[in-house]
Amino acid sequence: MGISVGLVGLGAFMRSFAKLYASHPLVDRVAFCDREADRVAKYAKNPVFAKKFREGDAYPSLDAICKADLDALVIITQPWLHAPQCVQALESGKHVYSAVPIVSLPDSDEMLDWCDKLVKTVQKTGKHYMLGETTYYRPEAMYCRRRAKEGAFGDFVYAEGEYYHDLDNSLRDVKRHREASQAGQEWVEIKKKYKARGAIAGPMDYPTHSTCGPICVMNAHATKVSCFSYKSTDPKDESYFEGALANETALCRMSNNAVVRINEFRKVAHPGSEIFRVFGTEGTFREESWRDRKTTTPLTMQEMRDELPSEVYKALDLGVRMWNAVEEGKDPGYYKDKDFAPADVAKAVYGGHGGSHAFLTHEFISSVAEDRVPAINVWEAARYMSLGIAAHRSALKGGELVDVADWGDAPK
Ligand SMILES: NC(=O)c1ccc[n+]([C@@H]2O[C@H](COP(=O)([O-])OP(=O)(O)OC[C@H]3O[C@@H](n4cnc5c(N)ncnc54)[C@H](O)[C@@H]3O)[C@@H](O)[C@H]2O)c1
Repeated sequence: MGISVGLVGLGAFMRSFAKLYASHPLVDRVAFCDREADRVAKYAKNPVFAKKFREGDAYPSLDAICKADLDALVIITQPWLHAPQCVQALESGKHVYSAVPIVSLPDSDEMLDWCDKLVKTVQKTGKHYMLGETTYYRPEAMYCRRRAKEGAFGDFVYAEGEYYHDLDNSLRDVKRHREASQAGQEWVEIKKKYKARGAIAGPMDYPTHSTCGPICVMNAHATKVSCFSYKSTDPKDESYFEGALANETALCRMSNNAVVRINEFRKVAHPGSEIFRVFGTEGTFREESWRDRKTTTPLTMQEMRDELPSEVYKALDLGVRMWNAVEEGKDPGYYKDKDFAPADVAKAVYGGHGGSHAFLTHEFISSVAEDRVPAINVWEAARYMSLGIAAHRSALKGGELVDVADWGDAPK
């Protein structure tokens, strides 16, 4: 029997994942859930899902879908909701995939408590939790993990991770959109309470795109961090930042003795990027190239990317082709044998964010099918998050050195 998966949070980002989860060959049933009824209805009648969706598998709330007899939930709701919803889902007996980060709140203590609760809930329930961090399955990260396994870096000496996303590069629209739903409107009210008690948010509250690369390649975690911030001086930015810090730069001591620099910027004249660089005593990776003392070897995406099993690739490819055709108002079979424009990465099977979406989907479903701890498990996810939490704490204390919390390695 196949795996049954409930998709929770049918907003903007689920559009990238629903087609992949529904067409994975090990998934035989999909359910849909959102508090916005029109979003559920749209998915329920999409012909792409006809073979795996049954009437009655449309749910108006997380409470309702937690009572259903499904194996797993894919939770892609707003970032301040993830941890409490994942804990609820795990306790209801479901394996859980969560959008990043573990949780994002303007209170470091609360975020640490949620990391702790999540780790303990995974241990107590024995269910699997996976974080959907896209950087982990960027081709660059796959390549570097392979080279690290071979020992090609030598000793790690230094790494950099950075996420540059200027508020005027779509972020204002994202905020407006995420706060427009019922859940979003509730958050607008909750935020006022944080503000009233003087809570200050910052981009390190959402640090996983920059912290994942150095941590997952070096297989090491931060132990101490010092961080400095930049606050926007432009009054036009206040409606977006609402008192939050705009940029944060952290310098960390790692458990392997290397040093890591992390930048999380939301106010920067830059087209936007989500990249990392790793430097070793024998080899260095930076900007799509491998370097040693004498040579620089440029690498293509194909050379860096791992391969999906061919039956998985074929099934996902078909699902994506059907989805694209339906989106464009065409017959579902329209793209079956036609090529997309070569540059249209987001339309192709691997999906956006460096082609990571298909790998995230496959890893979560495989871990459930094989009953094994997923690659981006809760212990790994907590390391991406706790670096950011400690960095933000440091920034609020003018750069003071702060210890980074850790929950240990995933069980073997
Ligand atoms: N590179 C990346 O990894 C990446 C990129 C984009 C978005 N994301 C993450 O994806 C998540 C979703 O972003 P989005 O833009 O799709 O948000 P969105 O606001 O478009 O969608 C969230 C949906 O969750 C629903 N929801 C909230 N609470 C619910 C509940 N209790 N029961 C059922 N439905 C509920 C909302 O009604 C909404 O439809 C965010 O956490 C974001 O950080 C990650």
